[in-house]
Amino acid sequence: MNVKVSILKIPNYDILSKGVMVSQVHDGHARASRFFTSTNASSYDTVVRIATFGQDYLWKRQILDVIDKHHLPCSCDSSSPSSSSPCSDDLPARTHLDLASGTGILSSLIERRGNHGRQRPRNVVGLDLTFDYLRTAKKKCSTGLLTNGTAEVLPYREQSFDSVTSSYLAKYVDIERVVSECWRVLKHRGVVVFHDFTYPSNSLARSLWNGYFKILRSAAKTVTSWAPVFRELDKVVKMSNWLGQTMQALEGTGFKNISFRFYTMRTSAIVSANKP
Ligand SMILES: C[S@@+](CC[C@H](N)C(=O)[O-])C[C@H]1O[C@@H](n2cnc3c(N)ncnc32)[C@H](O)[C@@H]1O
Repeated sequence: MNVKVSILKIPNYDILSKGVMVSQVHDGHARASRFFTSTNASSYDTVVRIATFGQDYLWKRQILDVIDKHHLPCSCDSSSPSSSSPCSDDLPARTHLDLASGTGILSSLIERRGNHGRQRPRNVVGLDLTFDYLRTAKKKCSTGLLTNGTAEVLPYREQSFDSVTSSYLAKYVDIERVVSECWRVLKHRGVVVFHDFTYPSNSLARSLWNGYFKILRSAAKTVTSWAPVFRELDKVVKMSNWLGQTMQALEGTGFKNISFRFYTMRTSAIVSANKP
């Protein structure tokens, strides 16, 4: 691997930026580059909402709840549980990294949750392989920094983040490398959360799932900018063992409190863990 970096000093983050080159491009990269392009960046939010029957939003809300569960609350949380005023603790904002941030749906939800109510504010950094998706995200995320790169080689310093998330990334990457990078950039007691689609195990759910992808394959003839995704996503999900591999990689790397949960007839799952 050929890695050339320069250091940019930005408030709250020390990031290594520019010129990160990955010479070993694997199938997942090639597939992601065919799936997510400049021609479908602007329609991504609508397509993901419709294609998941609105479940995407509910899954992302679950990701936020999982992060909050793993983090210790501010002291003001316990003193005034019903208060809606901002957290009065003079604590620095939490730093969050959203891997495969795409058009910024999850990043902006995390940012917003941190910026109101009794939560500590959150500075959100997004990273994604597809430049045009980041351009769309820029319109949504106000405070954060967006980085164009791969989740397998993170251009950030050790112990930079309190939490790291990814939604729909795990099936495209060398998950061992991503988990190891998450470990490196997370602070002690930091939390990592992976979310992605799963192939349901129940036979009724499976036939509904397969029938649905048959419809998507027909739709690919008219919705051409999404044709590769509509045609191939079912095979990618079926072939992927991201859930087992992620749990194994987390355990092998030293993460603790590893847990997972399925959602919506086991069509998606969320895995979380803490860096001790
Ligand atoms: C289905 S989109 C999900 C976007 C966002 N996480 C969401 O939930 O809306 C998948 C994203 O993964 C990104 N991606 C795929 N492989 C990647 C990699 N190796 N490193 C960083 N991003 C990657 C793609 O560019 C794309 O934006």
